[in-house]
Amino acid sequence: MCGIVGYVGPRQSEAILIAGLARLEYRGYDSAGIAVIDDGGHLGMRKKAGKLNALRDDLKAHALPDGTTGIGHTRWATHGGPTDANAHPHLADDDRLAVIHNGIVENYASLKGDLISKGYAFRSETDTEVAAVLLGREYRANGGDLVEAFRTTVNRLEGAFTLLAVHQDHPGLVVGARRNSPLVIGIGEGENFLASDVAAFVEHTRSALAIGQDEIVAITPSGVEVTDFAGNAVEVEPFEVTWDATAAEKGGWPSFMAKEVSEEPEAVANTLRGRIRDGAVAIPELDGLDELFRDISRIVVIAAGTAAYAGMVGKYALEQWARVPVDVDLAHEFHYRDPVIGPDTLVVSISQSGETMDTLMAVKYARERGAKTLSICNTQGATIPRESDAIVYTHAGPEVAVASTKAFVAQITALYLLALHIASVRGTLSATEIAQQVLELEALPAKIQHILDTDQSRIEQFAHWMADTRSVLFLGRHVGYPIALEGALKLKEISYIHAEGFAAGELKHGPIALIEPGQPVFVIVPSPRESALLHSKVVSNIREIHARGARVIAVAEEGDAAVLPISDEVLHIPLAGPLFGPVLGVVPLHIFAMGLATSKGLDVDQPRNLAKSVTVE
Ligand code: AGP
Ligand code: GLU
Repeated sequence: MCGIVGYVGPRQSEAILIAGLARLEYRGYDSAGIAVIDDGGHLGMRKKAGKLNALRDDLKAHALPDGTTGIGHTRWATHGGPTDANAHPHLADDDRLAVIHNGIVENYASLKGDLISKGYAFRSETDTEVAAVLLGREYRANGGDLVEAFRTTVNRLEGAFTLLAVHQDHPGLVVGARRNSPLVIGIGEGENFLASDVAAFVEHTRSALAIGQDEIVAITPSGVEVTDFAGNAVEVEPFEVTWDATAAEKGGWPSFMAKEVSEEPEAVANTLRGRIRDGAVAIPELDGLDELFRDISRIVVIAAGTAAYAGMVGKYALEQWARVPVDVDLAHEFHYRDPVIGPDTLVVSISQSGETMDTLMAVKYARERGAKTLSICNTQGATIPRESDAIVYTHAGPEVAVASTKAFVAQITALYLLALHIASVRGTLSATEIAQQVLELEALPAKIQHILDTDQSRIEQFAHWMADTRSVLFLGRHVGYPIALEGALKLKEISYIHAEGFAAGELKHGPIALIEPGQPVFVIVPSPRESALLHSKVVSNIREIHARGARVIAVAEEGDAAVLPISDEVLHIPLAGPLFGPVLGVVPLHIFAMGLATSKGLDVDQPRNLAKSVTVE
């Protein structure tokens, strides 16, 4: 995720680029930069770590000459921390070419090695600079045709990318390409725009063109040319932008939370991207750490809130696949319970922001006690990863809404990848067994998308009917138990309704006293195919509450007939393995919480009393 914008036309590009980046800053704010070809045909570039204001201040101190051709970028770092050097644009071809990028170039390491062997030097840690240097090399090789250099270059890249470039030999030209990453064209009067989304140019024009997969676009003030990666001309789809600029920042969604729930498939896919090869898990950030994973005797997962529930889900995978004993601690409890940890303990912290003070203090405490530490984090260069011996980043992109949704599914994805990686290192799973779980992981994005496409409006409708309810309970068993806890947290934190999650087996030990006629209860039902015994136990639990008048909403696998006669609503989720079904089950719960809070007219993005990152203990 990042913000990308390009401009060609009669007006000064700097102000247009900066205003466009301001509209896109929610997509990434680790750094920002612009490149402008000035009226003398010289390429100028400024970039700064930090939010857009840092770039604004830098441009005041180091003004760029006027120029009407330019590109701009706000970064959400994936490869290399948020530093000036890693900020975009990246320069190449003796600083006459500037490139910006959204996404992940999966094969950057091999390309970089090849370019270094050919004598090229690099000034950053990013995957993007590899694409820039390659583009510069191709540009020189083909005699200065930027579009054709783009075509040769993108055909060598693997992964997800939107790339824009300008070259000082070509004032009045911005070239872009996209694969698995967004890019739209804004059509103005004698001027044209490129951007990651329409928010960047909607104040200038509402006429836009959608670019398809594997296409290259060249814009000049008077024209737009789109070709595919093979060089064939392509018809592009015009559309009118119906959003205003503010709505456009949310991609047309009514809230950032709605946008981020819709991005859950992409968050999983991007967290998997570049970490699976031929049915095996390959996490580049963990190269060279095999000994660490062989030597540990136990794992302690520490986190807070939703991240802790992701950790509880990950525990099942780590124990089942890697056969390492796992404890999950709330970070603020771990830190004060005098835990028995030492050099043979791996403390895995999970944090979307990487700044949660409870979790940071717990990580520092673990290090002081000699434990090894690994951070699962969604924010490159944040404090907690910097304090850790190893890092596995989730690539969910910026999560703006206080209620964590896409980061949650990305955290589970990262934990499952870690569990398979450790299982491979310790030999507790065969290559075939790992490949089976990899297939399940790779199928998750499409299954989540299926739920969003088929169930969202129905779930929102009965959330609306339940807007006056005063309490909702959530039951789950095994992996479904932390999912029930997450469902309860999501509901309470954005709708201010009392909600509580229970282990289904715990019901008869007290909580069943809460059941009275009409009491809504969500139940995450295990798969009858994969977990027949667990399924039968949960069906019994449903019978117990249904007999007492509860209003049962079952989240169950497609084709599960047992729940139909004893549930008031059944939300179906696609078939999946025992550790994957309940993960899918969280999607309806996210939709329900958002639907109910919206029905109550509440601000789902910024609920009362809460902050996105709790940086106090
Ligand atoms: C989740 O919806 C909440 N906003 C909260 O529980 C959050 O998960 C918790 O504060 C941890 O935040 P972190 O992932 O940034 O560390
Ligand atoms: N992978 C690139 C980087 O880490 C681009 C990240 C983004 O999409 O902002 O710089």
